[in-house]
Amino acid sequence: MTTIRPRRLRTTPAMRALVRETRVSPGQLVLPVFVRDGIDAPAPIASMPGVVQHTVDSLRREAVRAANAGVGGLMLFGVPLESDKDAAGSSGEEPDGILNRGLRAVREEVGDDLVVMADTCLDEFTSHGHCGVLDARGRVDNDATVDAYVRLAVAQADAGAHVVGPSGMMDGQVLAIRSGLDQTGYADVSILAYAAKYASAFYGPFREAVGSSLRGDRRTYQQDPANRREGLRETLLDLAEGADMVMVKPASHYLDVLADVAAASDVPVAAYQVSGEYAMIAAAAERGWIDSEAAASESVTSIVRAGADIVLTYFALDLASRR
Ligand code: PBG
Repeated sequence: MTTIRPRRLRTTPAMRALVRETRVSPGQLVLPVFVRDGIDAPAPIASMPGVVQHTVDSLRREAVRAANAGVGGLMLFGVPLESDKDAAGSSGEEPDGILNRGLRAVREEVGDDLVVMADTCLDEFTSHGHCGVLDARGRVDNDATVDAYVRLAVAQADAGAHVVGPSGMMDGQVLAIRSGLDQTGYADVSILAYAAKYASAFYGPFREAVGSSLRGDRRTYQQDPANRREGLRETLLDLAEGADMVMVKPASHYLDVLADVAAASDVPVAAYQVSGEYAMIAAAAERGWIDSEAAASESVTSIVRAGADIVLTYFALDLASRR
């Protein structure tokens, strides 16, 4: 037998393009964005170089840029005034709350040109920073929290969200939100379920981005990073509850979970390249230690290769405008 030569298919850029197995296109990328109350200019986020907290106006402009670049969607997070936070996170469901104002503004600006998604969670709005309401002993009360998520999701649908994204990992949240939306005339609003969401150190920069007040951790509701099988279990439950799309989060360090979920899911699969994954690339690039464009592109390609149909990434605009 003569030498078998796989290198033949790597000889030229055209050949490599021809045989490429995974292609990333702008339409499958979702840009997460932060909209903050009470500021009159965009505020940089120190731990996420290049990412800002938007005013409602600068958010409108960002949405237009994203639509023009062919990005598939936006995921909105709200950053309320400290004085609007309370134990129940009630400013999340107020029509005038910052997230709902942001959703309205974006829909007004881009209509249906982008898929507009909302983070359906309480942590941005609670004084204690947890993703839910606390019981008398200070534990996150699952069922009371789910009731609050339903009100939050309906308020977000009212404000124009095409998709709600429950990210709090409460049991039964997808089922309850589905029936809440159906009963209020929002049968067409989709649910992107954060199905397998891990208690990750890679959310660190995000806590600065949303001005989180959290002390302690989220390990009684988010999953243990050591558990692979459980990621599949959580996903199957969300599918049974009616999730329209399921998500794995974080992405890069959970590609095994992502591959499992992609193999088992009969709905589109998303993965979230989170703030810490972004920050590691951006910080190393600032020092000249890594090529940010190449690393971002390789990272997102790997996430798609592992099975994601949709990628939430802070690099979405950069990646989309580069092609
Ligand atoms: C919860 C939420 C978090 C992120 C998205 N939704 C934070 C958390 O669970 O602690 C993290 C996103 C990121 O790190 O980029 N509302």
